[in-house]
Amino acid sequence: MMPSQKLVFLPDPDIARSCYVSDNAQYKQMYQKSIENPSEFWGEIADNFYWKRPIDFDNFNRFNFDFRKGPIFTKWLDGATTNISYNLLDRNIRNGNGKKIAFFWEGNDPRNSKHITYAELLSEVCRFANVLKSRNVQKGDRVAIYMPMILEAVITMLACTRIGAVHSLVFAGFSADSFAERITDCQARVMVTADATWRGQKLIKLKNICDESMDICQKKGHTVDTCIVVAHMQRSELPTGVSRVQYTAPMLNCRDFWWHEIVPGASANCPPEWMQAEDPLFLLYTSGSTGKPKGVLHTTGGYLLYAATTFKFVFDYKPGDIYWCTADIGWITGHTYVVYGPLANAATSVIYEGTPFYPTNSRYWEIVEKYKVNQFYTAPTAIRTLMKFGEDIVKKNNLTSLRILGSVGEPINPEAWLWYYKNIGREKCSIVDTYWQTETGGHIITPLPGVTAMKPGAASSPFFGVQPILLDDNGKEIEGEGEGYLVFSRPWPGIMRTLFNNHDRYEETYFKKFPGYYFSGDGARRDSDGYLWVTGRVDDMLNVSGHLMSTAEVESVLTEHSSVTEAAVVAKPHPIKGECLYCFITIAENAVFNDQLQTELKQLVRERIGPFAQPDVIHNAPGLPKTRSGKIMRRILRKIAQDDHDIGDISTLADSGIVDVLFKTKPNTQR
Ligand code: WTA
Repeated sequence: MMPSQKLVFLPDPDIARSCYVSDNAQYKQMYQKSIENPSEFWGEIADNFYWKRPIDFDNFNRFNFDFRKGPIFTKWLDGATTNISYNLLDRNIRNGNGKKIAFFWEGNDPRNSKHITYAELLSEVCRFANVLKSRNVQKGDRVAIYMPMILEAVITMLACTRIGAVHSLVFAGFSADSFAERITDCQARVMVTADATWRGQKLIKLKNICDESMDICQKKGHTVDTCIVVAHMQRSELPTGVSRVQYTAPMLNCRDFWWHEIVPGASANCPPEWMQAEDPLFLLYTSGSTGKPKGVLHTTGGYLLYAATTFKFVFDYKPGDIYWCTADIGWITGHTYVVYGPLANAATSVIYEGTPFYPTNSRYWEIVEKYKVNQFYTAPTAIRTLMKFGEDIVKKNNLTSLRILGSVGEPINPEAWLWYYKNIGREKCSIVDTYWQTETGGHIITPLPGVTAMKPGAASSPFFGVQPILLDDNGKEIEGEGEGYLVFSRPWPGIMRTLFNNHDRYEETYFKKFPGYYFSGDGARRDSDGYLWVTGRVDDMLNVSGHLMSTAEVESVLTEHSSVTEAAVVAKPHPIKGECLYCFITIAENAVFNDQLQTELKQLVRERIGPFAQPDVIHNAPGLPKTRSGKIMRRILRKIAQDDHDIGDISTLADSGIVDVLFKTKPNTQR
């Protein structure tokens, strides 16, 4: 057992006392009800929302997770009708929140900021919904969105839901090729974008990328007939050190329209389209092991309930709180926890356009202080990067407003957890290490801030309605302590319903490996206290001399060393052991990479995990190949470890130059 499993931090009593769920007995009782009587549990929550046609309690939830018994399906609240934008906007306004601020927008440059109230947001959403209608967008049609972190991105998403169109956001860091692949897959005719955006001092010419992808679509026989463009450059201050920008977005007559020329004149009144609970809400593409992206489809009623409920309980959002999630709107975290969850709770949130490093490396902490943020939600990779700059930089800002800190996207290594807890949370804040996936719609395994005794690195306990199961290689359920495949035998309201236009692939990917279960693709360990530790994708599992271990496990040990800021471990074929560990490490600014450090690291792994886990190679990596959302691309690292230069598509990398650097810096013995 790793020693960190014994490290436990209790929620601060002052914070715990004020939480919606403030003791374990209450959690247990609510959890039990959610499992034993889902219609009563979710039905009470659904009562807070507006249903045009009421819920039929005899038809509350039906599903089949066993392909041997017929097609896989999940339905919640089937037959009820509603509209999400109505619930997020009109309903909140009726409840007296019209003048409440929905979003504080903070631009890349600190001089750019603004805010929007719930009433203003409704007007803008209706105007844009009417514009979409005028471009002949109808219920069920897909709209492709490629936008920076600006308010128009939220307005566009909600305008789609107003009229029953299905939005498909593509993270505005994907290449033109990737965007085109996603547009043609869902056959979107209408695209919404901005001319450009600043990330620090870097200008990203979004409209050029969109033009390129529309050309690619055209060549594949698919036409985008409308492209609506927000003129974001003219209202953005130039970053420090940039004196002038010569960029005008190219606009094509009859296809391309400036937002400011067509939206302000549209009517601010647009009656909502009443949607079936099981009508599609949005598509979001996620990478698949075969390379072709999967269009994960979420539907209306269940997703609304699940986004709203997880947001409320996991972040313990109270009226008056200011919440900030740093995730980009182009990822699932941006969907559920920048847009849908917060708005469903009439929350006030911060949306930030830029990077953590501009104008200085304390920008995140400046924003926390400026808006007096109470809940802060970010990714371990961001924490690890910010750790590199030391603790002094954090001390410059007043972070005492913070109550709850969140982590998402990958297992958080205890080292980063402890740094977050100590330096950002002042040993007072609860940390919620939220485990979930694009497919799950919302958090499924997570601590609750007022209840869970926190173990650094453990996602801990199931959320309401979720029953995690661990299976061994033979598909047998593991009771008690153990490590295995993480699966689920029943749905919660927010789980995906299918892959767009490809139900076969949906069944194949998620339900075929273990009949009767949804397979997450992740491994997890249950410790002797019943805590769940997600160990990472099982495709990142290593088998060294018959010992199964996860790369994340080794990485977390390596980053315990004070000289190491980031680590990524991949398997390298080994003639005797089957596989051996090849470790890429990034060292701290003041650290030195030498034989002594390598010996210390090997020793640390031997100590923490066992002699069998001792790394064979330690590669001093100046950086790691990451997607723009910060995920390390292990596929590329595996190739580098094997000295295989045939690395395939690297268009999703934030910095493709790093690949060459890593080949050049490979330790001599490995060439
Ligand atoms: C990983 C992001 C451990 C996991 C919301 C999952 C995590 C994949 C955690 C989904 C966490 C996410 N602890 N692992 N707290 N959160 N993961 O679809 O491997 O971008 O399957 O959704 O990220 O990534 P996705």
